[in-house]
Amino acid sequence: MTQSLLHQILDPANRADPYPIYAELRKTPVHHEEDGPFVVSTYYEIRSLLHDPRISSDAHNLVSTGHDPLAEPAQEEQSELPPSFLRLDPPEHDRLRRMTNRHFGPPHSPHRVDGMRGELQGIVTGLIDGIGDPGRIDLVDQFSYPFPVTVICRLLGVPREDEARFHGWADAIAASLDPDPDADPAERGKGAPDARMQLGMYLAGLIEERRKNPGDDMLSELASAKGPDGTLTTMELLSTAALLLIAGHETTVNLVTNGMLTLLRNPDVLQRLRADPRLAVPIVEELLRFEPPVQLVPQRTPLADIEVHGVTIPKGSSLWLVLASGNRDPRRFENPDRFDPDRRDIQHLGLGSGIHSCFGAPLARLEAQFALSELARRLENPRLLEDPPPYRQNAVLRGPRHLSIACDGIRP
Ligand code: HEM
Repeated sequence: MTQSLLHQILDPANRADPYPIYAELRKTPVHHEEDGPFVVSTYYEIRSLLHDPRISSDAHNLVSTGHDPLAEPAQEEQSELPPSFLRLDPPEHDRLRRMTNRHFGPPHSPHRVDGMRGELQGIVTGLIDGIGDPGRIDLVDQFSYPFPVTVICRLLGVPREDEARFHGWADAIAASLDPDPDADPAERGKGAPDARMQLGMYLAGLIEERRKNPGDDMLSELASAKGPDGTLTTMELLSTAALLLIAGHETTVNLVTNGMLTLLRNPDVLQRLRADPRLAVPIVEELLRFEPPVQLVPQRTPLADIEVHGVTIPKGSSLWLVLASGNRDPRRFENPDRFDPDRRDIQHLGLGSGIHSCFGAPLARLEAQFALSELARRLENPRLLEDPPPYRQNAVLRGPRHLSIACDGIRP
């Protein structure tokens, strides 16, 4: 039997190259299978929905439609942590995002990310120096995973040595985003509520400690600072800290790994980057278009019946926005399947758009730019040992589980 397009997207067998399925999907910009979500795959339609105030991110507004593999009960039924601002609508979303941003970016904290440049460079250097046998490197385990974890720990003030404790919880939460179309929806993400609770308890202990002994990290500031919006409640602080910790590394790992994979498949670009590290800026933007670590946004719901491309999407239905497909839409991008860092017009959807667009974007970009330019500069004659590499199961947060590469040596 031929698989439905929805099943094909979710099937791990298609993870290495989902793009032909997206091309098929775009023939019907609003795709709907019986009892399934409404799947939107074309650039302009996705963008307009991301900016539409009638579209909610709050799971409370979702009316269960039966077999939508991603439909899930509102979060607090699953766990004791309230939803983070990723899953809230205005005005709560805006208030929490504003209060968090006070300690992360301009205008109140203009130096937070920029001030990490030296640290980023130091972490990248340390990890590359620590690569043992250049003949067999697992880029994920040895570089792309530890790098953003170390960075987000430093930013938040989470002890790096606790990684072994939160790694399992973070993985379970990330995996709960991964829909298995054939599993009983009630069973899906079974490990996540427990993981969220454990992570919440762990962070609560840490915040208690930071309140007593504040540092210059974000957790200390979020826990004590009072701004025009007041202070975060303990529960708001916990769900925000959990969001930052997870969003801060489960995505960047894939951008760096997808980046190296794409560069090794395009050796001319790798060579140009080695000669001119400033090329890392357009390369990272093109990567966010070409191989976005967040492939789709599966948690949207219309607050009223809305019409998109001639299809009425009913109020309360489940809406998926396939960012990675919009990024390859030939109506928007010339030659979309070509990796071309010289592209001038590159307003991709890789970091979302609208009020929920990626909060950590300046940090994510800087991390990937440092990582790729240093890998290009220091690895001598790097090559892929396995192509395509094995992928993580996750269809939403897509990226290689391992990336085996070899090189002739490590330059100082
Ligand atoms: C390459 C790395 C990253 C990618 C591709 C990425 C991608 C995204 C995307 C697509 C969204 C929008 C989700 C939606 O519309 O529902 C988002 C939101 C978010 N991201 Fe990132 N992200 C990355 C790194 C980071 C980092 C490093 C942080 C934290 C420091 C972060 C924190 C967040 C937060 C808090 C949100 C929610 C924003 C809101 O709801 O207002 N992300 N990210």
